[in-house]
Amino acid sequence: MAREFSTVGVVGLGTMGAGIAEVFARHRLAVVAVERDQVALQAGRRHVEDSAGRAVRRGKLSEADQERLLAAIAFGTDLNALDECELVVEAVPENLDLKRELFARLDKIVGPDTILATNTSSLSVTEISVATERPGRVVGMHFFNPAPIQELIEVVHTVVTEPAVVDEVTALARRLGKAPVVCADRAGFIANTLLFGYLNRAVAMYEARYATREDIDDAMRLACGYPMGPLALLDLIGLDTAYEILDTIYTDGRERSRAPRPILRQMVSAGMRGRKTGRGFYTYPQPNSPVLVDEVPVREVGVIGVVGSGASATRIATELSAAGFEILRADRDDTRSDLTAAHLIVVATTSAAPVIDYAVTTSRQADVVGLHLFDGASETSLVEVVRTVSTADEVVATVRGVCRQAGWHPVLCSDRAGFIVDALLFPYLNDAVKMLQDHYASADDIDTAMKLGCRLPSGPFEVLDEIGLDVALAIQRVLFGESGEPGLAPAPLLEQLVTAGYLGRKTGRGFRDHS
Ligand SMILES: NC(=O)c1ccc[n+]([C@@H]2O[C@H](COP(=O)([O-])OP(=O)(O)OC[C@H]3O[C@@H](n4cnc5c(N)ncnc54)[C@H](O)[C@@H]3O)[C@@H](O)[C@H]2O)c1
Repeated sequence: MAREFSTVGVVGLGTMGAGIAEVFARHRLAVVAVERDQVALQAGRRHVEDSAGRAVRRGKLSEADQERLLAAIAFGTDLNALDECELVVEAVPENLDLKRELFARLDKIVGPDTILATNTSSLSVTEISVATERPGRVVGMHFFNPAPIQELIEVVHTVVTEPAVVDEVTALARRLGKAPVVCADRAGFIANTLLFGYLNRAVAMYEARYATREDIDDAMRLACGYPMGPLALLDLIGLDTAYEILDTIYTDGRERSRAPRPILRQMVSAGMRGRKTGRGFYTYPQPNSPVLVDEVPVREVGVIGVVGSGASATRIATELSAAGFEILRADRDDTRSDLTAAHLIVVATTSAAPVIDYAVTTSRQADVVGLHLFDGASETSLVEVVRTVSTADEVVATVRGVCRQAGWHPVLCSDRAGFIVDALLFPYLNDAVKMLQDHYASADDIDTAMKLGCRLPSGPFEVLDEIGLDVALAIQRVLFGESGEPGLAPAPLLEQLVTAGYLGRKTGRGFRDHS
């Protein structure tokens, strides 16, 4: 006879824990819900209240049951309040050390018969269990998101979990109206092993701008009948959680398709963790809202501030002014008050750091965009409009409009080393240096071949001497550093010339003698 649980605990009231507490409370169990601090506790309580409120509005829960549900949960921040619980489910972030530490503490607080369950998506239940003195009474109880709605629970046993414990937890899952499946302890268990490869490939597709987020999501919903598209699902899961899950599955099996795509880490660093922070692949009106924001098209720009006093800043100011914008100029040192009236501020800088590095120094990451303006090789000046992982769509649209009005040709690219042009140009120049260093051909022959054979206006060594070998080396290092592609390593000859001070026309000597 499986035991009848009456009091259970939930630790961590984030995306999953709040839902798990709600599920228990709906099924007439007394719940002790513990968060790490008051702020997180209030957020967790709101999460449960909002979810129950939605269920009432949809007619899935009566108002009386809603009241009973909320009264069944005792919210607190002290783990000791769990001492009477017969089962404790942990839903703290996907981090092995954190979970092991928590289990070691719980082990000392709860009674000897209490079952400790982890909601981990991918970590080893075995490793978590051996942090306690009761590995036989530790299981995985893997709920799916959103816990009140999804039916599946993976009950994960280790090699030492007592069979009776598995039976008790499985019976409880059925009592909660769920469909339990029992499985052994392997990273990703059943569903995530299959799901996360698919999600990661969708991220790769989005990252490569193969298709828009809407198109990727609509395709999967409409063609396969999935309830939501992969990117919307990742927003729901939480990008930080998804990153950790992928990383664990990848580390376990070394299957490259599970290696988390770089953009996931960038988005997490930028605070875009999905619905729970109000922004992930999509934008939501506030944290934990399921409603999507209609993105505002463009902002009005009449006044533009231009910071810097060099040739670039002057050119930008002149051309924008000629296009009808009111221009406010400022030097690097006097940016304080004069620019407050500006709708857009252009800062002329020579640095090649990723745009996101500047964006995070402000309190308005979403408003920061890169503008990489080229000296007119053709009639129309090209400008690379660089969108970071945080830049708002309306900001990109606004800035593109300003560029067009100024007579420039904007192209949109992501915040990747070299953007579009340098990422294609500098590896080609570097290859030319390698060819020279290998004594395959002389600098003159290579320049001639490229000018006559490919109709380029200048040969690679002419270009290198013009822009400066040090500049080329710095860019090549950034390209190599970001990609790690062996083929992008700066040519040793380029490094040596820079070390020798042969920087090109500006020092009188580069690949050629200009003195
Ligand atoms: N998000 C999903 O779709 C999903 C699905 C199934 C399982 N899981 C798993 O559930 C677990 C939680 O994921 P989540 O997405 O809910 O994360 P989350 O970041 O939304 O929530 C984690 C919560 O734990 C709290 N917390 C952190 N340290 C704590 C401590 N020492 N004591 C008490 N509370 C603490 C945090 O304040 C936060 O509210 C992870 O193991 C994850 O892999 C997640």
